[in-house]
Amino acid sequence: MSENPVAIVLRDVEDADLHAFYSYLQDPQAQAMASSSTEDGSDPQAFDSYWAKLRRSPTAVMRTIALAEDPEHAVVGHIEKFDDEDRPYVRYWVDREYWGRGIGTNALRMFLDEVRERPVFARQNRSNEASLVVLKRNGFRHIGQDTGYDAMRGRMVDDIILRLA
Ligand SMILES: CC(C)(COP(=O)(O)OP(=O)(O)OC[C@H]1O[C@@H](n2cnc3c(N)ncnc32)[C@H](O)[C@@H]1OP(=O)(O)O)[C@@H](O)C(=O)NCCC(=O)NCCS
Repeated sequence: MSENPVAIVLRDVEDADLHAFYSYLQDPQAQAMASSSTEDGSDPQAFDSYWAKLRRSPTAVMRTIALAEDPEHAVVGHIEKFDDEDRPYVRYWVDREYWGRGIGTNALRMFLDEVRERPVFARQNRSNEASLVVLKRNGFRHIGQDTGYDAMRGRMVDDIILRLA
């Protein structure tokens, strides 16, 4: 575990947070890790419609990850549960400036305490080692794989599917 963890809170997503979420998506290193189902960060309209749809969904749950000890509670990421073909999935994204400080692991743990639906699934690029660590530490297990069209990369990519029973 990180030797220098950062304390976080999860709170409701506000309109103003979307600017930060969009900026995380522009990071090429982060884009290279994302799964095929991630929203298309290269197109601002696709990003807006993804978040509008998510926020309209009666079953989706989304939280902004913010710094607990910062007086401004600066935004450092987001985490959400959404349904795809009747399966609940979790997904998360952390500002690259804060990677490796326990935020992904702790945000998922806090989110799963709140969202009790099981089984819950995760889909990620097969080479995304950091996300695999985050999921496995929270009890997810590898159950299969799938190939999907990745709009950001403009090609098919291999994803793995994990489940928390
Ligand atoms: C995946 C992601 C959420 C991880 O967030 P994070 O806050 O860095 O996660 P944590 O610090 O809790 O844990 C990550 C762990 O993975 C480890 N890790 C990172 N890169 C790794 C690699 N290439 N191989 C093995 N382990 C790796 C880190 O060292 C850390 O372990 P540690 O605590 O023992 O040091 C973040 O990198 C991210 O947002 N990536 C872009 C979006 C994304 O991939 N989302 C996930 C699915 S779409």
